[in-house]
Amino acid sequence: MNDILQQLGHIKIIPIIALEEAETAVPLGKALLAGGLPCAEITFRTAAAAEAIQKMSAAHPDMLVGAGTVLTVAQARQAKAVGAQFIVTPGFDTAVVDWCLAHEMPITPGVITPTDINQALAKGLNVLKFFPAEAAGGIKFLKAVAAPYGGVKFIPTGGINETNLADYLRLPMVHACGGSFMVEKSWLSAGQFDKVTEMSARAAAIVKTI
Ligand code: 3PG
Repeated sequence: MNDILQQLGHIKIIPIIALEEAETAVPLGKALLAGGLPCAEITFRTAAAAEAIQKMSAAHPDMLVGAGTVLTVAQARQAKAVGAQFIVTPGFDTAVVDWCLAHEMPITPGVITPTDINQALAKGLNVLKFFPAEAAGGIKFLKAVAAPYGGVKFIPTGGINETNLADYLRLPMVHACGGSFMVEKSWLSAGQFDKVTEMSARAAAIVKTI
């Protein structure tokens, strides 16, 4: 397994962030680190994404900063150019996957069905985002869909929170979990980075109980 993906598997939680202001990336990275979560997935859901990735990576070289909601090859290329260390896509996109493989960029494509998983395996990928985890049927669905795929690891994302995080992390096929619950938008807009640290520390504490 790729070294970056392995590190995400040790951290076990990937905070998912949509930043309106790129400047927020620096104090946010500090707050996540202080809470014990040295990684972030900054999503291309906002125009500030590329600049935010660049700023967070530059200010916090000890963090693993990736790009999320990557929908096009152009976004993947931009993400790599500004220092993203991994790429996450919501679904399986062959063009984005092929570009990442050709440029040695770690990618966890989104899957939900056996057909999606087959496509990923055909490309040699075996660490996959499982999205949208809760809406699709949660742990029961994940167990059923993962059963035929012994070597595949999943990163459930979508509806993960403090309440269900431990249950997901205990599953042998779960590599890590993604979630936005430690980076609530209202906290970021109000500059309440102490709340990010507090919730990150609570999430990191849950990991230690697994
Ligand atoms: C994502 O961008 O992958 C999801 O929107 C994160 O889901 P959550 O907000 O329910 O954690």
